[in-house]
Amino acid sequence: MGKRKKVYGTVIEKMIIEEAGAEGKCIARHDGKIVFVPFAAPGDVVDVMLVRSKRNYSEGFIREMQEKSPYRVDPKCIHFGSCGGCKWQHLSYDAQSKMKSKLVADNFRKIAGLEPEMQPVIASEKEYYYRNKLEFSFSDLKWIVEKNNEENEEMRALGFHIPQRFDKILHIEECHLQPEYSNTIRNTVYETAIELELSFYNRKTHEGLLRNLIIRNNQDNQWMVSVVFNEECEDALRLMSTLKEKLSDVHSWIYIINNKRNDSMDGLDYKVFDGSSFLEERMEHLKFEVGPLSFYQTNHLQAYELYKKTRELAGLSENEVVYDLYTGTGTIALFIAPNAKKVVGIEYIEDAIVNANSNAKNNNVDNCVFYCGDIAKTLTEDFIQKNGHPDVIITDPPRSGMHPDVVQQIIKAAPEKMVYVSCNSATQARDIEMMKDKYEVAYLQAVDMFPHTHHVEAIALLKRIAQ
Ligand SMILES: C[S@@+](CC[C@H](N)C(=O)[O-])C[C@H]1O[C@@H](n2cnc3c(N)ncnc32)[C@H](O)[C@@H]1O
Repeated sequence: MGKRKKVYGTVIEKMIIEEAGAEGKCIARHDGKIVFVPFAAPGDVVDVMLVRSKRNYSEGFIREMQEKSPYRVDPKCIHFGSCGGCKWQHLSYDAQSKMKSKLVADNFRKIAGLEPEMQPVIASEKEYYYRNKLEFSFSDLKWIVEKNNEENEEMRALGFHIPQRFDKILHIEECHLQPEYSNTIRNTVYETAIELELSFYNRKTHEGLLRNLIIRNNQDNQWMVSVVFNEECEDALRLMSTLKEKLSDVHSWIYIINNKRNDSMDGLDYKVFDGSSFLEERMEHLKFEVGPLSFYQTNHLQAYELYKKTRELAGLSENEVVYDLYTGTGTIALFIAPNAKKVVGIEYIEDAIVNANSNAKNNNVDNCVFYCGDIAKTLTEDFIQKNGHPDVIITDPPRSGMHPDVVQQIIKAAPEKMVYVSCNSATQARDIEMMKDKYEVAYLQAVDMFPHTHHVEAIALLKRIAQ
């Protein structure tokens, strides 16, 4: 057997970066193999140092820039390159939008064998400050980006997880995803915790009082701050009251006790320390009470664009029975309800269904019914008989897409139209491929909910083919 070629550290000179690939990395080609390069831009000419090689692809980093892509711009954030959040900040927003649209088209071509005309991407009106929620983690051992050799370097951190590392937290000094006051809140929480000598959590030993910080805001510029502690104690309440004095613009102060080994909020309860227990969001005729643990779309303005497009594509005339699969807290169902005879929402998270029902009640909507259950088991022929045959199905599954049984059940139910909203166009294309003998893609569009990230939402209208 021949010796395996050494790959790590091999530098390939003058590689041309061609296009965007998976996980926000860009693609170049060498020796007939794809090379994934993070933080590159289509059009760059770069020397790449390889760090990994598999049978079909390699991975590497930019070692030397030879020629800069015309799509490059200066990133706004000081944490660009080390924070996993906004991997495309070095690209102009126009280039990002085009790359997102192309990613969707490529998935449909490669996975579904379909080439529908792409409608122009629905770009986000706000390029920065578009999020209404950010979650940060405390850690007693920060991720070191650059060694500064300072004695007594501050090692406590409040920031974001390094991608795929549950125990590594990058300390954040600025983030431009949420309106600016979010930075004031986070930095004040961090400084106050240090002043009060409170302990920061360690994700290996599971010791330390301070675990997470969740900052929410709404359209009216009201703010909710939730601090997650390891235990309920006097120090926790001391922090809350000091913060309340320092940050008088905060509308709602919440604390949550989590003594589990992981940071998930599932099954946790919250306590209102001061102020309101929810923030109100509005969308046309609807009002939503968003509590500390409720799900709400994080880019409100783009969610509105997405829902308007969903409603337009559904083309309702107040006579249809519409199924809203993966309904979450029922926002799409309630949004389209005035245009339908009846809307049936299905979702498997019990709390979300509780929220959907109270959202319906608070908004005086009486033509929506919500069911809690796994769609693969709930959407049966009996269910359809009981709730009425769907004229239109709207589906908005998680990244993994729809279960094959759900796809088969939809084909059997044979609604005239489907609007398929997806945050992962690869699984969307896979599911649509299974339906392509019965449905044609009459409309396809990328919607950018998260500028500067590689994430993209795609909306497709499927029309039943006359047999
Ligand atoms: C992308 S979200 C859609 C939320 C909603 N349409 C909205 O706009 O707010 C997907 C939803 O599907 C739910 N879900 C995931 N798998 C499910 C399943 N097998 N059965 C029912 N609901 C599921 C998740 O809990 C989540 O609320």
